[in-house]
Amino acid sequence: MQSTERKQDFGVYVHWPFCLSKCPYCDFNSHVRHAAVDEARFARAFAGEIAATAARVPGRTVSTIFFGGGTPSLMQPATVATILDAIARHWPVASDAEVTLEANPTSVEASRFRGFRAAGVNRVSLGVQALDDAALKQLGRQHSAQEALAAVAVARAIFERYSFDLIYARPGQTPAAWGAELKQALAQAGEHLSLYQLTIEQDTAFALLHAAGKLAVPDEDLGRALYDTTQAVCADAGLPAYEISNHARPGAECRHNLVYWRAHEYAGIGPGAHGRLDIGPERRATATAKRPETWLMRAESLGHGVETDEPLTRSQMADEFLLMGLRLAEGIDPARYERLAGRPLNPRRVALLREQGAVETTADGMLRVTLAGFPVLDAVVADLAA
Ligand SMILES: C[S@@+](CC[C@H](N)C(=O)[O-])C[C@H]1O[C@@H](n2cnc3c(N)ncnc32)[C@H](O)[C@@H]1O
Ligand code: SF4
Repeated sequence: MQSTERKQDFGVYVHWPFCLSKCPYCDFNSHVRHAAVDEARFARAFAGEIAATAARVPGRTVSTIFFGGGTPSLMQPATVATILDAIARHWPVASDAEVTLEANPTSVEASRFRGFRAAGVNRVSLGVQALDDAALKQLGRQHSAQEALAAVAVARAIFERYSFDLIYARPGQTPAAWGAELKQALAQAGEHLSLYQLTIEQDTAFALLHAAGKLAVPDEDLGRALYDTTQAVCADAGLPAYEISNHARPGAECRHNLVYWRAHEYAGIGPGAHGRLDIGPERRATATAKRPETWLMRAESLGHGVETDEPLTRSQMADEFLLMGLRLAEGIDPARYERLAGRPLNPRRVALLREQGAVETTADGMLRVTLAGFPVLDAVVADLAA
């Protein structure tokens, strides 16, 4: 059996849309509110949306749950417990379910980790971002490197599994400096690290600075050198990339993110959450209202905050499968592509990309992007999807 044909996981993504401040690089659905957030009210609305979603896709067994943000570690543990209880009331939850919560690594948030563990969270993903105080300041972070590493140590003591994120290809960063920082991070890492190249996203403070010539980011060659350093240092440490930006010891991959990349089914709960639900013969793409207050009003009056709910066409499903699946080191099953698209991948294009060394076929028939192809992944996907 091909690995992508294994029994499908079903994931539940829960979005907590609030942050203490907005980081200048971030375009996630995150909002700063100066008044206190009424968590009990939001928790009731989350529970309502979970019930409404479960009524549409009953009988699934939940294998992964992910609290993302925003900053979910700002939630009270009781809020997390209420949401997890609601999920368990409406779907069976596998006894080995992975339950991840994204946390910002401040001491205040680390003090809640025990409460999150008691509520049922078994994995945390910490946004450390850098181990250099000047870089953290430039990234607008609210913590020092030392405070972040202290939060990592608390996570290690409390949770079975933890991961942390770093952002590289920062202004002025050299491959040598990044290599040294990454080695320091690996000494504190458990089984998993997410390593993202800084991207300049539209409508962020960094985009304004960049457009004004006040923020210089590495050019393509330097970006490539930083990427190569990342691969070499992590592979040496036993944490190879299993996805373009994610590294793990074999077997310790984030199962929730694999649900997305393997194009399995997931529910999106909370403001600005996306879902993919298999209803009858269709795969439906859902999205909820992004603004927290709009979502809350909809959820309270309609029982859910869904604003978009559309069936995907075969070609949309096939494109999405390529876009997500080719990010993975394991690659994609061409037979599954053919079933989704109703036609095989174009053999001429595959052959050309293979000749260029950008893709290869594994012994079990998976098509995957090579190490040389990953830096030009977007072009590879565009070529195959055309
Ligand atoms: C939802 S965000 C953050 C979760 C959490 N609020 C935090 O800041 O730690 C997930 C991750 O995306 C990464 N990220 C966000 N914007 C980025 C950008 N413009 N470039 C690179 N990485 C980015 C950061 O590493 C961040 O930890
Ligand atoms: S990076 Fe995290 S803390 Fe910063 S604005 Fe984005 S979601 Fe909020």
